[in-house]
Amino acid sequence: MERFIIEGGSKLHGSLNIKGAKNSMLPIMAATVLNSSSDSVELYNIPNIYDMHVMKKILQSLGYTVEFQNNSLLISPGKALNYSIPDELMREMRSSIFLMGPLLARIGRVKLTYPGGCSIGPRPIDLHFKGLEALGASIREENGYIEASASELTGTEIHLDYPSVGATENLMMASVLAKGKTVIHNAAKEPEIVDLQNFLNAIGCQIKGAGTEKLRIDGVKSASACSYRIIPDRIVAGTYLMAAAITRGDITLKEIIPSHLDAVVAKLKEAGVEVEATEDSLSVHNGQLKAVETLRTLPYPGFPTDLQAPMMALLTKARGDSLIVESIFEARFKHVEEFVKMNAQVTVRERNALITGVDRLVGAEVDATDLRAGASLVLAGLAAEGTTVINNVWHIDRGYEAMEKELNQLGARISRVNGPAGSVENF
Ligand code: EPZ
Repeated sequence: MERFIIEGGSKLHGSLNIKGAKNSMLPIMAATVLNSSSDSVELYNIPNIYDMHVMKKILQSLGYTVEFQNNSLLISPGKALNYSIPDELMREMRSSIFLMGPLLARIGRVKLTYPGGCSIGPRPIDLHFKGLEALGASIREENGYIEASASELTGTEIHLDYPSVGATENLMMASVLAKGKTVIHNAAKEPEIVDLQNFLNAIGCQIKGAGTEKLRIDGVKSASACSYRIIPDRIVAGTYLMAAAITRGDITLKEIIPSHLDAVVAKLKEAGVEVEATEDSLSVHNGQLKAVETLRTLPYPGFPTDLQAPMMALLTKARGDSLIVESIFEARFKHVEEFVKMNAQVTVRERNALITGVDRLVGAEVDATDLRAGASLVLAGLAAEGTTVINNVWHIDRGYEAMEKELNQLGARISRVNGPAGSVENF
């Protein structure tokens, strides 16, 4: 098991470039299945993270040759396209479900099992199914396998019961080759939806409206290849801004789109952090941390659930009482138990967490229970007195490229070690 050993107490200083967004890259990699030409798709600004390698294996299992080099991907079609995704790859991450829409659109058939992913509460896929059925797919579930087929998908009006990010993306990818016009109402508005629209339009599809609640898709007969650069990761950027703030440091993040972080910057300012923006960078400066009244996670443009745990780490050190309401996922407070081991004062009741700021966090051995929970523990470790050991850092590797190296570049003291739990010497 790989773990991080963090020596707390260093202030972060310096600057860092932010790479492409995991949550844009994954659906876009799946959308390359729509390319029916013999040309390769090139994707740039690709983070070297665990989930990218899983999606790469999925595409390889479907018959693609996929090369990853210097943060770029070259995805080349093989002779035939398989329709079945191995169960062990489906279980690796939630985003494996993204293959459903494009495979149905391209070859009219897909067989898979239920997707795995971060353990943050029930994550149904009913909205994906409902939308695909509305487009004309028939879906059968038997012995844990899901088989979907459609001789032809036909454009229709889809009203999503909830603006699910994944369902919006799957339905965009399914409907681009459908016959006629599709309208998706109550669509998710995240920047990653806009990125997917831009990619799909670059391969010859016709979608309008991303970033609003209504998407209009005019079906085209086929899609081809292109070269495309993925947008910067707003969640990684937000995490590192919070890392600097919790150490009362000074950093600048470059190559980002600051407007994607408006809600986050507003909350950071409310928490006493000084933030400055340029056209493509954000800087934070040492400030006196104070509690925020209520922070509610919401679909974009609200405060992102993916930054709830890192923000909570920050608030454990902020003067006063803060309330966090997690409105997106049912069980996304697993980091709380770990924070408490580090002397934080947090109590949870259902979807509410009450955080009372403390003067000192203290190093402890803690577990990364999921991706963002793991990242938040790194932040707590940076601010804690003494040594923090974080187990199961593979969760963090799912979404942050070599987080320890990035943060060490800014002055953190994090080492990655290998070995069974409890084996870290001198701890
Ligand atoms: C995406 O997950 C992200 N993942 C998540 O990022 C992120 O937390 C989430 O959106 C919300 O912003 C990717 O983009 C790969 P949803 P997704 O469908 O698409 C319910 C991270 O840390 N729902 O918008 O799975 C669902 O249970 C992660 O990078 C249904 O009820 O999120 C949840 O309560 C983890 N039925 C809510 O909607 C459905 O069919 C939001 O989920 C689909 C969703």
